[in-house]
Parts: sequence; structure tokens; C-alpha cells
Amino acid sequence: MARSVIDVPDLTKEELDQLMDTAEDIIARPDDYADACRRKKLATLFFEPSTRTRLSFEAAMYELGGNVLSVTGANSSSAAKGESVADTAKTVSCYADIIAMRHPKEGAASVAARNASVPVINAGDGGHCHPTQTLADLLTIRREKGRLGNLTVGLCGDLKFGRTVHSLLNAMSRYEGLRFVLISPEELKVPSYVKSDALKKKGIPYTQTENLEEVIGDLDILYMTRVQRERFFNEEDYLRLRDSYILTPEKMKKARDDLSVMHPLPRVNEISVAVDDDPRACYFKQVLNGKYMRMALILMLLGLKGGTQA
Ligand code: CP
Repeated sequence: MARSVIDVPDLTKEELDQLMDTAEDIIARPDDYADACRRKKLATLFFEPSTRTRLSFEAAMYELGGNVLSVTGANSSSAAKGESVADTAKTVSCYADIIAMRHPKEGAASVAARNASVPVINAGDGGHCHPTQTLADLLTIRREKGRLGNLTVGLCGDLKFGRTVHSLLNAMSRYEGLRFVLISPEELKVPSYVKSDALKKKGIPYTQTENLEEVIGDLDILYMTRVQRERFFNEEDYLRLRDSYILTPEKMKKARDDLSVMHPLPRVNEISVAVDDDPRACYFKQVLNGKYMRMALILMLLGLKGGTQA
């Protein structure tokens, strides 16, 4: 079985740091990587909507000199005829050197990895996890703050269904001196298993609150999230909770001058467009950083090098 990345624990802390170093080298010397994946093919299998993750994987492979095969939407592949994830993975392994897969079912990427003969990257499985978004987040924090430790990190919004939050907590819990402030309505709190694995077992301090304005002034990073409509069983609950938090220029006045505002995107209403011009807004930098980290990950899983590593 080829090495796959399904969740953040599939990567060691040293590998996370190495991926960030590679991404920095790609940013500094893109031409040195332009042929690194020549004659290699990435298959993007997206059975759930995506703009950033799919396009950044595809842009990443093109910028590495490789090619892309793409399935978008369950109805455009034989999944619509009832083909299993396992058979899809075995089939696509015949055509591609590496697979990036998004699926609405938790665990689908893991099933694909067990059946594929090429590396599988989880591009988001239901409400479970989204490790490559975490790679984008880590590089953004390291670039903005110059470090990944000794920070107070606020996570705000849908912390229950927000898979990017689960993966980020897992990754950041490996760095020293962190404190988390978990800001959500009661019904959208971080699941107990995530708190237990990422925070309690490691003795990492955290507080939980429903009030963003009370804590915004304490934060080095504010990671906003969208209320995940597609994971709700009941539309009424979604409508009641969707606007629980809206970050506005008024609220930003209470924050530190060196706050970094992040969001995995897409945003709906939780960050006012007026905040985009605030120099503390980092969410579009996150988008770009995601492409560089996916380039680094593709290289790592294919055992290829470029730039100063060649
Ligand atoms: N952040 C993220 O996963 O965005 P997409 O759903 O557009 O891929």
C-alpha cells in the first residue's frame, strides 16, 4: 500500500516543518520546481463541491510540470451507477500516480487509501478532517507570526462540523506554549473526542465561550469558520445558528494590532466584506499558501525533489 495522508497524524511534526520549508523554497524558486512532476498525473476525485481545494491541487500539479485527471461531482462518474469507493480507487490507480479525494462520507478517503496502489490525499471527508487545509493554515501562521508556538488561538463558529478546526487543533497541539479559546454556540462546540485527543491528553490549556467580543482582545490568531449548512439534519437549526458570529470592523477595534484573522473559506456571512481591507485579514493569503503546501505534499508523497533539495 502506498503512503497516503488521510489525517494530520499521518504526518510527523518534523514532516510538517519539512513541508513548510519546501513550500518556502517553492515560493522563493518556483522555476526550480517547474519540471519536478514531469510525466506524473494527479487525479482529483471530488464527490462534494469545492473551489479552493480542487483548483489548488490542480494548479499545484500543473506548476510542478505534471498533468491532471479530474472527476467533479458524484453524478459525473460511475459512483452515480453505484460503484464503490474501493473500486473507484483501484480503477483510478491504473491511470494516475497520486489521488486527491473529497467525499461527503467520513472515512471514505481511508477506504480509498486501503484500496489504491498510489498515494491518496484526503481533500475533506464529511465533517471528519481536512489535512491539506491544515497545511495551508500552518504555513499562513508561520509566515504571519514567524512561529507556530507561544500563541493564543481563537477558533470561532461551527466547531462541531468544521473539519478544518479538528485538523488544525490536532496539528497545532504538537507545538509548545499554545492556548486555545473555543468560541461557539453550545450546540456547535468542538466534539469531545477532538478535545480529548488534541487538548486534554496533552494538557494544552483551553477555554470555551459563546462570546467573541469578550475574548477577541486576547487573541494572536482568530480562525473564523462557516456554519456548515450541509451537515445539519434540520434547516431550522441552521437558520437559527448561521449568523451566530459576524466579524465586523467595529469588533476588530477591540482586537490587537497584530491579530491575524484567518478563515478556510468559503465564507458566507461570518466575516463582513469590509474586514477584507484590514491588514490583519489573512484569509486570501491562506488560499495561496494552500497551493504551495499541496505542491510540497505531492512532491513528498511521490518521493520527488526539486529546488535546493535536488
Ligand atoms: N477551504 C476549502 O476546503 O475550500 P473549498 O471547499 O472551496 O475547497
